[in-house]
Amino acid sequence: MGRMPKTCLDDRAECGESAPAGEAAPGARFEHDTRWRVLRRNLRGAIQAIRTHGANRRRIARGDFKLRPLIASYYVTHRCNLKCGYCTERYPIRDTTDLGTEEACGVLGRLRREMSAIYFTGGEPLVRPDIVELVREARRLNFFPIYLGTNGLLLPSRERVLDYADRVVISLDSTDAGAWDDLLGAGGGQARRIYEIIAHYAGEQRRRRVSLMVNCVITRETVADVYGVMEFCFRHDVVFAPVSATADSLPDRALLARPDYQRLVRHILELKRRGYPILGSIDSLETLLFGRPFPCYATALPHVYPNGDVFYPCQPLGRVGGNLLELGSIAAVYREGERKFGPWKECWRGCALYCYVLTAYYMHHFWDQMVLESVAQFAMQPGTGRRLPAEAALEPLYEDPSSWEPSDPVAVPPTRLVYDVPLAQLVRSEQLSPE
Ligand SMILES: C[S@@+](CC[C@H](N)C(=O)[O-])C[C@H]1O[C@@H](n2cnc3c(N)ncnc32)[C@H](O)[C@@H]1O
Ligand code: SF4
Ligand code: SF4
Repeated sequence: MGRMPKTCLDDRAECGESAPAGEAAPGARFEHDTRWRVLRRNLRGAIQAIRTHGANRRRIARGDFKLRPLIASYYVTHRCNLKCGYCTERYPIRDTTDLGTEEACGVLGRLRREMSAIYFTGGEPLVRPDIVELVREARRLNFFPIYLGTNGLLLPSRERVLDYADRVVISLDSTDAGAWDDLLGAGGGQARRIYEIIAHYAGEQRRRRVSLMVNCVITRETVADVYGVMEFCFRHDVVFAPVSATADSLPDRALLARPDYQRLVRHILELKRRGYPILGSIDSLETLLFGRPFPCYATALPHVYPNGDVFYPCQPLGRVGGNLLELGSIAAVYREGERKFGPWKECWRGCALYCYVLTAYYMHHFWDQMVLESVAQFAMQPGTGRRLPAEAALEPLYEDPSSWEPSDPVAVPPTRLVYDVPLAQLVRSEQLSPE
């Protein structure tokens, strides 16, 4: 297995840091987090995203769907301190081996050669005692933006991750503590603890120059609770990111067809129109939450498992192209994946997760939606965002719900989607198309 010539451990020593992994060093602040430097990192990230977009358009035009990566999802572990009912990304459902700190830093170093953005996920990333070192290493390597997904429970003992990450995404599905505790599957009291932790660190966002986002999974049981989750987010100046619960990465069609779910989605869309901090453009939210068809370009978003394995073309299809540490780059993994499994094209299976929906907009609505949305996201950063009355999340926003157009998600034909590349150019893969 290849090694990085210089490791994050070496670097920590050079920086004179002495706090053990995960332990808060009082007063420790990252040296790069002045407002000007954050802006500069934003601009650099934007330039890289534009260049990657151009390169990928050219690749697709010549029929090569092994895309240049935009952002990697790095599952640093599958271990977790919760057992959420809908989740399959945890041990023992996934039984993978974690890399040690040095090798995990090696993964980061290799990823950085090919992309500038990273999303730490799991399992629960914060159960790794070295998570602070890993996120810090991502910062040292100048990744931007650095996302970290967490259930939040261990944030107080690993709070230095907040100094190195740009956006911390915390899961929050319900404001009914009892019902949510049942879903979390780890005994009573966890839900209340998470509310308190989010509220506490939401108040620290400006000081730490980090932005918090809540990822809310809408399930059959929690539809009515999501209004409260939104209100909580807006009250605490936290971005709200909704997704419906998936099984095998596909949406729950029975849930999507329910009137109370459709009312909720329309409420979310209306709040988005009114400028509330909700992730995604109106169009991409509709695609995600109504389960509309979209062409997915999953190779732009490599998923790296805890042992360094990378999927080709994507994690939902479960095919590992190869190991990043052994093959050295995502490009090499994709070449190996193509050799093993054959060429892949854009896919219409319809995995209803934000990251995959995002690829369609990234390829086909880059300027009119992605760039605009990124600017809006920048405006949502705490401290620059406007504060709108949080109660709107709970109030009825429609005069006459019975006048709604029907939104049967299954019935929406693909032609509803207007792309600036002729659909004929987007050859569907027989193997992967839904029918
Ligand atoms: C797998 S978790 C890993 C990070 C961390 N443990 C957490 O819960 O935030 C990443 C996100 O996926 C969401 N998730 C898990 N299973 C899901 C499913 N079946 N459908 C939709 N989202 C899901 C979680 O709620 C969480 O926000
Ligand atoms: S906390 Fe995250 S990884 Fe753990 S079970 Fe819940 S969703 Fe899955
Ligand atoms: S839509 Fe297709 S390519 Fe995209 S993640 Fe799902 S199975 Fe993979």
